[in-house]
Amino acid sequence: MDWGMKNRLGRIIKGGRTVMLAIDHGYFLGPISKLEDPGKAVSQLIPFADALMPTRGVLRNCIDASADVPIVLRVSGGNSIVGKDLSREGITTSIEEAIRLNVSAVAFSIYVGAESEHQTLMAFSELVNQAERYGIPALAVTAVGKELEKRDARFLGLSCRIAAELGARFIKTYYCDNFEKVVEGTSVPLVIAGGPRMETDLDVLQVVSNAIKNGAAGVDMGRNVWQNERPVAMIKAIRAIVHENMDVADAHKLFLG
Ligand code: R5P
Repeated sequence: MDWGMKNRLGRIIKGGRTVMLAIDHGYFLGPISKLEDPGKAVSQLIPFADALMPTRGVLRNCIDASADVPIVLRVSGGNSIVGKDLSREGITTSIEEAIRLNVSAVAFSIYVGAESEHQTLMAFSELVNQAERYGIPALAVTAVGKELEKRDARFLGLSCRIAAELGARFIKTYYCDNFEKVVEGTSVPLVIAGGPRMETDLDVLQVVSNAIKNGAAGVDMGRNVWQNERPVAMIKAIRAIVHENMDVADAHKLFLG
C-alpha cells in the first residue's frame, strides 16, 4: 500500500480500531432531530471521534476548519426520503473537491439488490478509480434503504464482499447475527452503523461490544450518539469498548457516570 493511502487509513483506523461519527444524514433525510444544526450537535463530540463523516456542505458551513479530526467525506447522493427510489445515488462531489477539502477518505452508498444496484456499483467503482489515483481510501456503505429487515448476514455478507471486490478500502455496514460470517468473507476492515435510535442505552453498548468481539474494526455511528440525551457520555462509553475492550457493564457504568 502506498504511503499516502496507509497514512490516511491509519489516521482513521488507529491500532486496528476506530470510532467514527456520522453526521451525513441530511443529504437524504433533511434536518432530522438533533442534527438540525450539525455544528452545534458535534462540537463537543469531535474530541472523542477518530473521524467525522459529513457532506461537503456541512463540512464547509458547520465544522471548524482547525478541528483536528480526519474527514471521511460523503460524496454520494441525489435521492431523498420522499423520492420514489432511495437507491438512486450517484457521485455528488468530485475528487478534486475532496482533495481541496483535505479529506482522509471518501464514502459512497451501494445498494445491492435494489433497482439502482448496477448504477451504484458502477459509480462506486468509478469513485475507487478516481480516489486510488490520489491515495485516498474509498469507504463503501452497504445501504438497505427503507428495508431495515434486510440486515442479515446473507445480505450484508454479499454486499460487503462485492464492495471489497470493487476496491473499497474499508466498509460501513450493520451488525447482525452471525456477523463473523460477514467479516470472514470480507478482506477489508468493517465498521458498523447504528441505524435508528435503539430502545435503551445498554442496547447500543451491547451492539458495539458484540460487533467488536465478532471482528468489527469499530463503528461509524450517528443517531445513537447525537440523539442521546448525554451524547458525550455515550461516545466515551463506545470508545472504551472499541479502544479498550471494556465490557458492556463497565461501559454502561462509565456512561452513567
Ligand atoms: C446512512 O447512510 C447515513 O448516511 C449514516 O451515515 C449512517 O446510517 C450512520 O448513522 P446511523 O448510526 O445514524 O445509522
